[in-house]
Amino acid sequence: MRTIYFDNNATTQVAREVLEEMLPYFHDLYGNPSSMHSFGGQVQDKIQEGREKVALLLGAHPDEIVFTSCGTESDNAAVRGALEMVPEKRHFVTTRVEHPAIWNLCPYLRKKGYRVTELSVDRKGRLDMDEVRASVTEDTAIVSVMMANNETGVLFPVEEIARIARSRGITFHTDAVQAPGKIPLDMSRSAIDLLSLSGHKLHAPKGIGVLYVRKGTRWSPFLIGGHQEQGRRGGTENVPSIIGLGKAAELALKHLGEETTKIRSLRDRLEKGLLDRVPSTLINGDPDHRLPNTCSLSFEYVEGESILMMLNDHGICASSGSACTSGSLEPSHVLRAMGVPFTAAHGSIRFSLSISNTQEEVDYVIEHLPPIIERLRGISPFWKDFKEGKRISLGGRA
Ligand SMILES: Cc1ncc(COP(=O)(O)O)c(C=O)c1O
Repeated sequence: MRTIYFDNNATTQVAREVLEEMLPYFHDLYGNPSSMHSFGGQVQDKIQEGREKVALLLGAHPDEIVFTSCGTESDNAAVRGALEMVPEKRHFVTTRVEHPAIWNLCPYLRKKGYRVTELSVDRKGRLDMDEVRASVTEDTAIVSVMMANNETGVLFPVEEIARIARSRGITFHTDAVQAPGKIPLDMSRSAIDLLSLSGHKLHAPKGIGVLYVRKGTRWSPFLIGGHQEQGRRGGTENVPSIIGLGKAAELALKHLGEETTKIRSLRDRLEKGLLDRVPSTLINGDPDHRLPNTCSLSFEYVEGESILMMLNDHGICASSGSACTSGSLEPSHVLRAMGVPFTAAHGSIRFSLSISNTQEEVDYVIEHLPPIIERLRGISPFWKDFKEGKRISLGGRA
């Protein structure tokens, strides 16, 4: 059975050009970039080339790029490294809809004695800028707000927040893991101090990340070891993956406009096709301010997990907005923070597209998903209640 992959916010396929660029560095050119001999030296040159390509994608200086092992490491290194520099400040500001790489730092930091503010979002997943402004105090060490939400694709006004932080002398970090290749990035005209990326979200391999550190930012390294990455991240470099990420960054920059136009039109076709055919369906997030590749829909009165399993039978890969934790299906913290009612949050499905998707694949999903929802609603007691007028629909038509 063919695979129709609509789960690119979870991970992407390594691009063929990326793989080809990496291959020689597994076997033939295996030198250690720190070695004095030229066999290692040529690897060091190639790492530098990768760094320059990532810097170009970000509009940054190559010296501002620190390679890490993943987006999670970059997020942790950013926040913990910034906190360490100002031990007298004990306040951390973030949002309720961050990826766990930031969100799970909140209970950890509270336990360490920090005060943590988790900014709320409205029904469309948007921040209230007055709440943002009011949240920062003399005691705030760092503000961390994601650039784009991984579940809904909602874009946050990170530049505006970075400027607020800068005006108060506070370090600003953004988790931009879902952004590259989908929206333009330009650190040369930005007030962002620290920014995280992850290779496997932009057609590079898993296990490679980037932390952008603006020159002059008060930040202390997280992983202490050798002199690699100018002493900012010890550990022998993941050479093939750095080289692959460089190539992926080059491709992302080259295809940015053309790809986003194509992906956006496929996403819109998918969304419209499903909304037209499936009654009582809602868009999660802000339709006017979101990533061009992401579509999060809630099919009221059915369970996301069941939809996913039935989509899987047709070879279709997507994600749900709920996680099965200790036997109970809990809607994701993102949908909960947005106040999506449980009858809708449970039936949420995220489709995330990439340049490899085709119109034919979109039409295949539009053909196969509506009968799945109809079958599941046929056995849903909530749907029965709704049909009998005992429940209301948020998605409009029944
Ligand atoms: C917004 C966001 N931040 C951080 C991460 C973590 O990245 P990694 O898987 O490279 O640790 C992800 C991965 O899904 C993500 O979507």
